[in-house]
Amino acid sequence: MSPYDKENLSMSTLKDLCDEFEKNNHIDASFYRQFRVKRGLRNADGSGVMAGLTRICNVHGYVISDGEKQPAEGKLQYRGIDLCTLVDSCVKENRFGFEEVAWLLLFGKLPTQGQLERFTRLLAHCRELPEYFVEDMIIKAPSPNIMNKLARSVLALYSYDSNPEDTSLENLMRQSIHLIAQMPSIMVNAYQVKRRHYDKETMYFHPIDLNQSIAESILGALRIDKKFTPEEAHLLDICLMLHAEHGGGNNSTFTARAVSSSGTDTYSAIAAAIGSLKGPRHGGANIKVNEMLGYIKEGVQNWQDDDEIAAFLEKLMKKEAGDRSGLIYGMGHAVYTLSDPRAVILKANAKRLAEQKGLGADFALLDAVERLTPQVLAKVKGIDKTVCANVDLYSGLVYRILDIPTDLFTPLFAIARTPGWCAHRIEELTTGNRIIRPAYRAVLEEQAYVPLSERQ
Ligand code: COA
Repeated sequence: MSPYDKENLSMSTLKDLCDEFEKNNHIDASFYRQFRVKRGLRNADGSGVMAGLTRICNVHGYVISDGEKQPAEGKLQYRGIDLCTLVDSCVKENRFGFEEVAWLLLFGKLPTQGQLERFTRLLAHCRELPEYFVEDMIIKAPSPNIMNKLARSVLALYSYDSNPEDTSLENLMRQSIHLIAQMPSIMVNAYQVKRRHYDKETMYFHPIDLNQSIAESILGALRIDKKFTPEEAHLLDICLMLHAEHGGGNNSTFTARAVSSSGTDTYSAIAAAIGSLKGPRHGGANIKVNEMLGYIKEGVQNWQDDDEIAAFLEKLMKKEAGDRSGLIYGMGHAVYTLSDPRAVILKANAKRLAEQKGLGADFALLDAVERLTPQVLAKVKGIDKTVCANVDLYSGLVYRILDIPTDLFTPLFAIARTPGWCAHRIEELTTGNRIIRPAYRAVLEEQAYVPLSERQ
């Protein structure tokens, strides 16, 4: 057995190994300026380095005037159509929109009535997972974290695909449609197994109803009696629509594009994107907002007192409270400045429904976080940067209104983002045509090779 096998990797051994690492691996922060490194692939004003071209989406958060970045209201367009228009139209016409958005993102134009009906039916028919997949890949290997289970299951789907490597457009489309349809099935199955195995609760697997939209099928699968109201299903559908896509530069989509650019298979690229989305600075922030809300409720006595809330936010930012990361989750964005249109839509829905669900106080606290964070950021970091609420500030509250468990907050983001990831993978493979390969400046000193017998 190797000395580094689990049982032998004691804390003292680990400490020695970490000391060894720390002795040899420091990089001076000033080097980034000295060598003009675009840390985080950002320009000096915080905007992203231009890494490609896309026809899929436009994320607009500021204007450049006289060479300076000026804050602006956020705007998000899928294939040139404003997200708010897409959502408003579905609300007015009282119909589900996620399937339509998936079509729009994949193909580039709104579907006709006939195309939409056929596509919705196709997605419903593809929802079933391959034979014995649930038994062999999900039930036999439960995971406490549904994001990890999603990534693992997507990788495993490779083995059930008779043509996994082919990167022809036709094959990419087939795989994309299957993934969009099957991700919700993986999520609900993985969640049931997690409930049984880790939470010691009853698990239940309802049969698939081909007449349901994706939003309806998720809610039905999560309720023991399969019951939900049309209003609930439409609200979840809106959540799926507004998480579906966010340009090529967001961390998970860029991951999907970078991995795809090597020519690898669809399952490897989408599993990597899921891994990226899980991070607390990206999609995982929605769970962290919920956790942060808990810390605020514990640490603040008077929830109506802005001064007391601001003082607690200051503690969070100074790493004196909360998860000690220094982050106020759900706030700030790499592109948006004055507003994130997705947060605006979610907030309006949360405001409308929170009171009825007994979550009015939680809504008011999140609203206070949104109002007070800019002044706290300015005070603690001395940054005069316009920061707004992002998509993750209110999404968890909306999910709680829908009685959706915390375990599924980020997985729902992943399900919704799958059409976006697939559209970008296809675009990368059909238009990019170059392996994504930035450079790292070496800041190491040369060292002489010393024969093993002479080392001290
Ligand atoms: N809480 C605390 N500090 C924040 C912050 C936040 N919500 N948002 C930005 N900052 C800080 C940054 O850490 C940075 O400080 P530093 O110079 O000491 O490192 C400074 O403000 C400027 O950061 P900025 O350039 O505006 O942010 P970014 O573009 O690098 O990061 C996010 C964008 C979204 C990753 C960042 O705002 C964040 O971590 N937010 C919280 C997590 C979250 O909600 N993520 C979901 C995104 S949709």
